[in-house]
Amino acid sequence: MFPFQYKNNSLHCDSVALTTLAQEFGTPLYVYSANRVRENFRRLVNAFAKINPTICYSVKANSNLSLLKILKDEGASFDIVSGGELFRVLKINADAERIVFAGVGKTESEIDFALQSNVGWINVESEGELIRVNQRARRLGVSAVVAIRLRPDVDAATHHHISTGHTTSKFGVPVSLALKMTRMKLSNVKIRGAHIHIGSQLGNPEATLKAIEVALDFVARANQAGAEIDALDVGGGFPVAYRADDPKPDIESFAAPIVERLSQSPIKNFHLEPGRFIIADTAALMTTVQYVKDRIAIVDAGMQTLIRPALYEAYHQVLPVEQVGQVSNLSYDVAGPICESSDFLARDRELPNLKSGDLLALTHAGAYGFSMASNYNSHPLPAEVLVEGERYRVIRQRQTLDDLIKFEDGSSIRQ
Ligand code: LLP
Repeated sequence: MFPFQYKNNSLHCDSVALTTLAQEFGTPLYVYSANRVRENFRRLVNAFAKINPTICYSVKANSNLSLLKILKDEGASFDIVSGGELFRVLKINADAERIVFAGVGKTESEIDFALQSNVGWINVESEGELIRVNQRARRLGVSAVVAIRLRPDVDAATHHHISTGHTTSKFGVPVSLALKMTRMKLSNVKIRGAHIHIGSQLGNPEATLKAIEVALDFVARANQAGAEIDALDVGGGFPVAYRADDPKPDIESFAAPIVERLSQSPIKNFHLEPGRFIIADTAALMTTVQYVKDRIAIVDAGMQTLIRPALYEAYHQVLPVEQVGQVSNLSYDVAGPICESSDFLARDRELPNLKSGDLLALTHAGAYGFSMASNYNSHPLPAEVLVEGERYRVIRQRQTLDDLIKFEDGSSIRQ
């Protein structure tokens, strides 16, 4: 069940009143439901059960260690894109052999870190990267298992900033180059997989199905010529309905035709890399109204806390934490404190008459919320709280002002 519900006109996360959390920890505050994380993961497992994929949670969506631990305990593996994300998943003792290391710009030291940690799969995105992985593996005396990320030349039905499968995208390689890569003589690399990820927040499964055909055709041609590819990584991108009337398909109908197609392919080893679907609706961002001018509510969260509306014109539902009696609903824009005209969290929303001190909650803020937060305008990063039914605990402390200048040399300034 969606974890943010009203009880006695007061918005709760599971059994905990959000007002209690705001009083105890202040705002801006990210509040997560542990149960919802588990529920979403299990739903995904069931939707794809017929092909029994390794589900590699995409750490970039939200990399908090406590959330990663919940997913690990559920049986998830991880999709990482940097040495930093590898460091995080190793901290929770993730099974390295099941990790997929994706990303378009892996450095030598990141590749070494992955090879030394026995990361199971490296998804390579260019010829140069394949050569580099081979060189580093030879130096370290190990053998690397890789998948080639294809650029299948399909256009995903999504926002252009999060579409990745078209010809001019910086991600992956065209099939012709991928075929050439499978024929290269590489002493310390085994090319065992094909990888596709055509975008995030996909509107329907059509483009994914097209990309799967491209990938299966590539595998057949490569294997005919002597390659030994037996795995397919289908990427992530599964949609989330951010608003009640969002026509996005649910995960079961999105998965069904994909599962059907894949279960008829000769490949039996599948990876998925879902981020958003698992974590988006598990969290709300709580914020306090500071000022109301004209029809703009200025709040204490902003693009430094949740950049999605400013960056992608993304929609997050805004709910009043306390539903007060009879008020005429007015239309408000909700803006942050940052000195940028684009610093809006929501536009034109019907809300009760707002005043300074009122609490608001932006829902579906779990994916690419905290993980994209910044210190812009020298705002400390917000705290994160995890709710477990009736209990709750801080899973990330609010940054302090001292944290802001921790890595700067303040000594010379004071002299
Ligand atoms: N695999 C690869 C190779 C990816 O690049 C991504 C996301 C995923 C998996 C996970 O995709 P998901 O299941 O979460 O859609 N910041 C944007 C989304 C950027 C997605 C980047 N790559 C947003 O807030 O909408």
